[in-house]
Amino acid sequence: MIDKIKGHIAEVERFNANTKDEIEAFRIQYLGKKGILNEFFAEFKNVPNEQKKEFGQVVNELKTVAQEKVNFLKEELEKTQEEKGVYGDLSRPAEPVEIGSRHPISIVRNQITEIFSNIGFNVSEGPEMEDDWHNFTALNLPEYHPARDMQDTFFIQTDPDILLRTHTSSVQVRYMEENKPPIRTISPGRVFRNEAISARSHCIFHQVEGLYIDKDVSFADLKQTILYFTKQLFGKSKIRLRPSYFPFTEPSAEVDVYWGLETETDYRITKGTGWLEIMGCGMVDPNVLRNCNIDPKEYSGFAFGMGIERIAMLLYQIEDIRMFYENDLRFLEQFKSAL
Ligand code: PHE
Repeated sequence: MIDKIKGHIAEVERFNANTKDEIEAFRIQYLGKKGILNEFFAEFKNVPNEQKKEFGQVVNELKTVAQEKVNFLKEELEKTQEEKGVYGDLSRPAEPVEIGSRHPISIVRNQITEIFSNIGFNVSEGPEMEDDWHNFTALNLPEYHPARDMQDTFFIQTDPDILLRTHTSSVQVRYMEENKPPIRTISPGRVFRNEAISARSHCIFHQVEGLYIDKDVSFADLKQTILYFTKQLFGKSKIRLRPSYFPFTEPSAEVDVYWGLETETDYRITKGTGWLEIMGCGMVDPNVLRNCNIDPKEYSGFAFGMGIERIAMLLYQIEDIRMFYENDLRFLEQFKSAL
């Protein structure tokens, strides 16, 4: 009898199975209610006393070996199923859902429009393909005016009257044609200039231009509005206006913001002066108002315009304007936390 049990032990040890059913059949065969083990246990009372001890030990050994075999085979089966991807690794973290991010140009554009909408400016938009009137002539830039050269223009070859807008001042002309003062509007949008592409300039970029027209609008209003803007956007409260020239404004100025000279970067980006140029501005030329059917004797106004890329480069310390258009995820992913 003991030899028979030992034979079973050897058999259990040799046993192998690849499916759940095989393992279950094996378990029932040995460990089930009517299984081999229980048969031996039932036999116990018939075993002669002097053999009882050895018999007990061998039967218990068979029980342990069978139980361990079943556990081992079950684990093995799960492992191979996992490897085959039946369950996958259940302890792995879930597939991460990637959160997108806004483009830095959109972030800065939204910030600028928000700042101006808080003081009553609305947002106006217009076509990227413009006619000569809205981009040039109405803005006091008649044909052959030398200042047209300031803005290297892409013309549409088949029609010299149609071009890609070189600034969003064209939207302001459209807005004045369609609306009566008081006017407070900003025009964000994409503009085009035939310039060589480098780290500093691109042939496609974005602008926000602003226009304010009402009775008795003065240069002081312009200055105060821009000061408010620079405080809001940069947290800087020192600006200076340098005399400049634009055909559509008179007088005209370039706005510099005092950036500071605290860090090495400050030195580098301000070329050691502490000042940074951020936009152009001026009082709307009476000719422009007249071109848009607004009486310059009754109304006056100011306008300003800035490049979004330039401001984004300052805010985020971006060294190369081309980064904005390359759609490199390593660059874009850095703006995830911003709105
Ligand atoms: N339109 C000018 C440009 O594109 C900017 C500007 C707008 C300057 C309004 C003065 C007033 O450079």
